Amino acid sequence: MLRLFSIAAALSLLTACGSADAAPDARGQQALAATTPDQTLPTVVVYKTATCGCCGGWVEHMRQAGFTVDARDLPSNTELMRVKVDAGVPSAMTTCHTSLVDGYVVEGHVPADQVKRLLAERPDVAGIAVPGMPIGSPGMEGPGAQPYLVHSFDRQGGNAVFAEVDPR
Ligand code: CU
Ligand code: CU
Repeated sequence: MLRLFSIAAALSLLTACGSADAAPDARGQQALAATTPDQTLPTVVVYKTATCGCCGGWVEHMRQAGFTVDARDLPSNTELMRVKVDAGVPSAMTTCHTSLVDGYVVEGHVPADQVKRLLAERPDVAGIAVPGMPIGSPGMEGPGAQPYLVHSFDRQGGNAVFAEVDPR
């Protein structure tokens, strides 16, 4: 029962993602300056829904950082939640999109440089996450940016602070 309640809470968070659709201009300009993928970086497989504007912003951020991104639209938030549960994302950290990269899970709007750090340091964790889609994180740009945390998590219920990011 507890798990059902937390999934319901996460689903309500997912619906908030569409609000970023209102600000496509910055992303459109970024898209014009396409970068060449860095072949030394692994492909990032992103699971999201088609209507998630901020997810598209994060995909673009990762491409700009040199990653090859395989973005996969799932038909509904139910399928997306199944991916999160299978990947071992703690329910308190679930947010709008889930990525798999070189054996790690990357949940939400994690900055590309923190993903690169994860891949370089290869800590003994299942993945890293930025819960809650904070304003100022990649794909969630806007006025009122505040510092936010990147968390790491394992499959035994453990978690730790992986990084503190100040986007201001
Ligand atoms: Cu989002
Ligand atoms: Cu997203």
